[in-house]
Amino acid sequence: MGYTDNTELTDAVSARTRAMLTPKRWAHCESTARTAAGLARRFALDERVCYVAGLAHDMCRELSPETQEALVAQEWEAIDFLRNYESMKALLADRNFREKMIHGPAAACILYRDFGVRDRTILESVALHSIADERMSDCAKVVYISDKLEPRRSRPLDAEEKLGSLDLDYLFAYTVDCVVRWFSESGKILAPYTQELYHRILAR
Ligand SMILES: [Fe+2]
Ligand SMILES: [Fe+2]
Repeated sequence: MGYTDNTELTDAVSARTRAMLTPKRWAHCESTARTAAGLARRFALDERVCYVAGLAHDMCRELSPETQEALVAQEWEAIDFLRNYESMKALLADRNFREKMIHGPAAACILYRDFGVRDRTILESVALHSIADERMSDCAKVVYISDKLEPRRSRPLDAEEKLGSLDLDYLFAYTVDCVVRWFSESGKILAPYTQELYHRILAR
């Protein structure tokens, strides 16, 4: 609490995230933050919001499922504003997907509790980065896209070109499409919510 400016908050979140993660996952968070800040510039969004959310998005990924759940239970206030989002309801409803995706809401809870973050755009971007939601803000879409397409990821050959050229709606659709393909190629089961989101995007 009590950060006097954005740089102080960014530095503090950066140090905490780094301390909570393996070097490889920390590098992914930094790369996500850089990618998100670049997209924010391109789309005239708040670079700081996108950068901090990108840094923090996977901060809880290496905590035990029990610890993540406890954070969400204790600091629910941080994400209560998302309770009517279909994505959040879907994330919480299915035990399997909940365990995989609760690290986003848990990270939002740490930002709220330990860093005094009350900016809903940051909290939403972090909380929904795994599941996505068409209602979410442009900054949250940017963080979702950056998490999936940052250069350290194995990503499609045309990803860099798409990051630099598509408008935000098309880039979001392209990213959801990439996610759907990764899941089907790896044989993993995609969250039904994301599957439905994909079909809604295709129908548009
Ligand atoms: Fe994540
Ligand atoms: Fe991530």
